[in-house]
Amino acid sequence: MEFRVVVCVFSLLLLLGFSQAEQVKFIDCGSSVGHVIEVDINPCPSQPCQLHKGQSYAVNVTFSSGTDSQTSKAVVHGVIAGVPVPFAIPNDDGCKSGIQCPIHKQKSYSYVTQLPVKAEYPPIRLVVEWELRDESSKDLFCIKFPVQIVS
Ligand SMILES: *[C@@H]1O[C@H](CO)[C@@H](O)[C@H](O)[C@H]1NC(C)=O
Repeated sequence: MEFRVVVCVFSLLLLLGFSQAEQVKFIDCGSSVGHVIEVDINPCPSQPCQLHKGQSYAVNVTFSSGTDSQTSKAVVHGVIAGVPVPFAIPNDDGCKSGIQCPIHKQKSYSYVTQLPVKAEYPPIRLVVEWELRDESSKDLFCIKFPVQIVS
């Protein structure tokens, strides 16, 4: 009986651990009109995040805005050997990615989107640079984090 309870609790913890988004270590690359609070990627059980080809990853960037803006637009690059290569995401409109626009100064928002990893991507380590630009093309956030693409 007790053993079963222990197993049950353990399984539950394991399940929670797997379903919980991981806070990812990032570098701020110039959030000039915002402040990044937290970056979560799910699933990412160990860092740098291993991105499996053909899978999709949930990205959640929580930030506070230092400006008012009607719009927000995401721009993503993969930095390979120091060279930024544009990275296509399904929807670059931040206002359709968890953010209720217009954006207000001093309010916090969670930008939530999916990062699909295409089968044709090379299996390399790279740095993802993710910006969210306001209506005057200033960065509400700019974050960089390393990833590894695996088969
Ligand atoms: C995004 O992260 C924030 C901060 O941890 C959290 O409050 C929010 O619920 C998350 N949103 C989603 C859709 O996971």
